[in-house]
Amino acid sequence: MAQLITSVDQLNASSINDLPSMPLPTKVLMVRPLHYSVDYVINPHMADQVGRVNTTEAQREWMLVRSLFDRIGINVRIIEDQEGLPDMVFCANQSLPYLDKKGQRHVFMSIMHADQRKREVPYFEQWYRQNGYEIHYLDEDKIDDFEGCGDAIWHTGRRLLWGGHGYRSSMEAYQTISDTFDVPVITLELVDETFYHLDTCFCVLDDHTALIYPGAFTEQGLELIHAVFEQVIEAPENEAGELFACNACCADGRNVIIQQGCTDVNKGLRDAGFSVHEVSTSEFLKSGGSVFCMKMLLW
Ligand code: ARG
Repeated sequence: MAQLITSVDQLNASSINDLPSMPLPTKVLMVRPLHYSVDYVINPHMADQVGRVNTTEAQREWMLVRSLFDRIGINVRIIEDQEGLPDMVFCANQSLPYLDKKGQRHVFMSIMHADQRKREVPYFEQWYRQNGYEIHYLDEDKIDDFEGCGDAIWHTGRRLLWGGHGYRSSMEAYQTISDTFDVPVITLELVDETFYHLDTCFCVLDDHTALIYPGAFTEQGLELIHAVFEQVIEAPENEAGELFACNACCADGRNVIIQQGCTDVNKGLRDAGFSVHEVSTSEFLKSGGSVFCMKMLLW
């Protein structure tokens, strides 16, 4: 089943429907943000925010996100953050986990794009090692960067991966991942720096529904998204760019945890039958992240 799909001509709709199922994640990993701050600028959202994070408020918001996962029945596992690694709380980025058909857990460790974040990865690797994962690495001589589930997003309930590239992850990473996990990867090029990770403009809600910000994609990418999902909810520019609406998380295919105030998107979500749980992530938006970036989905 390994294959890179870059345009609709390569997409065989029936074969997508026939892809083997994958269990829904039951856990999330979160990083307690005791040392979280904006200390440098590596994405457009961080400009003008250096030194502006209210740490107490950030910790309060993080606790509320954590309790929402608890409330919808997702088990939360915690890693402590480290002094000098102010972005470690964004734990969607350092890895890409996978559960194979036999039930063995695997993980690819990321190659962070920015030097400031490279030291985060070993802390996660250690956690995966202690928890029985088979650990895989990308060849750093051939692949420049890969930022885990910031750019690589599992299709709900299927052995199919969506792979964003352009700002933080290289297309070449997906060939290795597709071959190793034996899954097809549909690649999507990102073209607007405001939406520098796939998880800032694309959220899989369930097997046939996605929430996207169309302006972040090429025509080819939009064709692929519309070919696979029967229902595509589009976020308006302000809700996507300022409130990170598409950085919502729908772990169970029903309950959507999302930054508070995404009025249009929330209406679309409710009309489509989803339960909406709003939470403020204002301190994390200053760094270019919201709910989806603040956790790693696990099985
Ligand atoms: N400041 C972090 C960075 O630029 C934010 C990461 C947000 N994570 C995400 N998956 N979008 O790397």
